[in-house]
Amino acid sequence: MSMFRTKSVEQSLRDGDEPEYQLKKRLTALDLTVFGVGVVIGAGIFTVAGRAAKELAGPSVVLSFVVAAVCCGLAALCYAEFASSIPISGSAYTFSYASLGEIIAWIIGWDLLLELMLGASVVAQGWSAYLGVFLDHLGLAIPESVAYGSRFDLPAFLLVVVLSILVSIGIKESLRVNLALVALKVFIVLFVIVAGIGFIKSANYSPFIPPSQPAKAKSSLESPLIEWAFGFAPSHFGIPGILAAASLVFFAYIGFDVVATTAEEAKNPKRDLPIGIIASLVICTVLYCAVAIVLTGMVPFTELSTEASLATAFESVGKSGYATLISAGAVAGLTTVVMTLLIGTSRVVFAMSRDWLLPPWLGKTNHRTGTPLRITVIVGVVVALVAALTPVGKLEFMINIGTLSAFFLVSLAVPVLRRRRPDLQRPFRVPFSPVVPWVSAAICAYLMLTLPVETWIRFLVWMALGFLIYFAYGYRSSRLSGNPKKGELPSMTST
Ligand code: ALA
Repeated sequence: MSMFRTKSVEQSLRDGDEPEYQLKKRLTALDLTVFGVGVVIGAGIFTVAGRAAKELAGPSVVLSFVVAAVCCGLAALCYAEFASSIPISGSAYTFSYASLGEIIAWIIGWDLLLELMLGASVVAQGWSAYLGVFLDHLGLAIPESVAYGSRFDLPAFLLVVVLSILVSIGIKESLRVNLALVALKVFIVLFVIVAGIGFIKSANYSPFIPPSQPAKAKSSLESPLIEWAFGFAPSHFGIPGILAAASLVFFAYIGFDVVATTAEEAKNPKRDLPIGIIASLVICTVLYCAVAIVLTGMVPFTELSTEASLATAFESVGKSGYATLISAGAVAGLTTVVMTLLIGTSRVVFAMSRDWLLPPWLGKTNHRTGTPLRITVIVGVVVALVAALTPVGKLEFMINIGTLSAFFLVSLAVPVLRRRRPDLQRPFRVPFSPVVPWVSAAICAYLMLTLPVETWIRFLVWMALGFLIYFAYGYRSSRLSGNPKKGELPSMTST
């Protein structure tokens, strides 16, 4: 049997109907959009925007947000086509199993785990940082030995534990909490925009695109692969700066694809998934561009903070009370990001274990909560430990590379599935296929090349580990392998 064997779309749909592996179908288009906005708006806009403006693009960082949005928008169209025609848990993993073959599906699933698990860990660390800033404004402090940046980040650890418990109780319940927190987060972002407009000074926009300057040379491990491989001189600002900032602020958009991981829990996935994916991306793009314009108009870009940049911008115009409110909003906002990433991770592992590429007992849904409880607990423990123990600032680029590689493969998969299964019902279709999917793949590939060499090395190590597990376990155990499992499967519904 070939490792490029594909799982038919019909088989995927049948698996979703097996009672042992069933998730409750409760989510509406609005739930999915809220879910998307909840996971997308996070550390990217609260911290990365300021850093990108200060170090790479100046006021033209708004154009970087537009470039990143175009990249994500094209990928979103591809995700929407798949999600509407194969509404099955597992997102890109499931789509590629039906089109590109098992080994590619495994790679994508493995990449998604990198994106989602590390994403949850890194945003939990960011949450801990903002909590520190917020408590500081209230005159309180977390003991330094267990605070953000220490050897054991206790707030990040506790956050993940509490959210994992919430997620295991049930998806609808977690989305109810999510709704309240997302509303607060969007309110804070709108507040930044409205309150900030009055402090804009047009002089801060000039020059809008600061002239390109040579940047300080970095070690070869830290330099972008494209500079290292082609000997390009490092530079920032100007047009190259806008593009470099685009691959940094790409992080701010990560998460809209997670909407597709909950496909099986949607009431009417064919219609609602494309709405959820595209609406959350559009809402976030508009908010991000507005924040970028206000932020760079309030403070000269050279004076922006690289950490809590939104809060500090208000401090610098004498509005310290606003800064407290914004840090509180960031704490609430980042909570929903971590929670949604935890849900996404468990749904990807769920899909992989249902296909027996990972042990099948992992994926049993609990009959009371209707969620894959075992996976949720294991993922929660791993993410909590990574968040608590990993030094700050080490993993961000890994998340971008994991996501971009999944986007790249999903984009390529759209024309492949169209050729293999022209008969499939596609309630949503990418316009101008195959050109749009190919352009999408090319932009993703370019952004991946702008990531540092050390990120590529870590990524390759992660991939090697993935191949090892696949060939040692998944290849032989897969449902498609034809190897019967010993005896009957035990009842798949755990109690
Ligand atoms: N897009 C998410 C954030 O900005 C990952 O935090």
